Amino acid sequence: MIAEASSIVPFTGAGISTECGIPDFRSPGGLWTRNRPIPFDEFVASQEARDESWRRRLAMEPTFAAAKPGRGHRALASLYRAGKVPGIITQNIDNLHQASGFKADDVIELHGNTTYARCIGCGKDYDLAWVKLHFDKIGAAPDCAECGDPVKTATISFGQSMPEDAMRRAAELARHCDLFLAIGSSLVVWPAAGFPMMAKESGARLVIINNEPTDQDDIADLVIRHDIGDTLGPFVGN
Ligand code: OAD
Ligand code: ZN
Repeated sequence: MIAEASSIVPFTGAGISTECGIPDFRSPGGLWTRNRPIPFDEFVASQEARDESWRRRLAMEPTFAAAKPGRGHRALASLYRAGKVPGIITQNIDNLHQASGFKADDVIELHGNTTYARCIGCGKDYDLAWVKLHFDKIGAAPDCAECGDPVKTATISFGQSMPEDAMRRAAELARHCDLFLAIGSSLVVWPAAGFPMMAKESGARLVIINNEPTDQDDIADLVIRHDIGDTLGPFVGN
């Protein structure tokens, strides 16, 4: 299918990054089996929730900082360099597609990016070192130096509105590809989980690569229930 396709759009979830040491959400030991997600309205309303959210994030920082692209990331980057992949849609926030060689503009991040922070009021960006410095100094989640509103990882939390531009560009990619690869996602979180079906309905072949059953196996042309790194490893090129 990869050989026959002229426009391949990968759609990735947390499963592509587990071999890089970053846990997923819903597997045994996944993040949501250990911690309950903190919804956006709670983050906005409660200093305690903000403190807890940043405590969790800063505790994960050594893991994120050390993570390198895995075989899945590198295989997709090889297909991108070969001109077969116009862009990639990801639910991941770990920046590993960019690190594997995708131009930032060609990575459509549906759920944002956790490698930097952003004021939820004025939108000013902060690096994590700034957050850590202030967290350590005042013992609490910091507020924006410009406008005083809370600073949050530049990710999308449950209850937070989806990034419009990313949603529009993802739909464009899904509608115009001839092969859509859903990789390492349980495909249960909407609206992100709507893109595989959108691609399928627009005439693309749909392949799902995931070691557990997903919510959308029944609409796929091919389901590869196997490890992602092992499956995509042979496509890692130069
Ligand atoms: P999930 O944790 O729901 O699903 C990851 C899937 O990858 C699971 O079905 C695993 O079985 C599979 N998997 C893990 N490692 C694998 C490997 N090496 N090879 C093959 N399969 C593997 O993660 P997502 O679907 O990405 O959003 O989660 C979607 C969204 O839920 C996230 O973006 C996040 C989360 O809540 C928000 O927080 C808004
Ligand atoms: Zn601000």
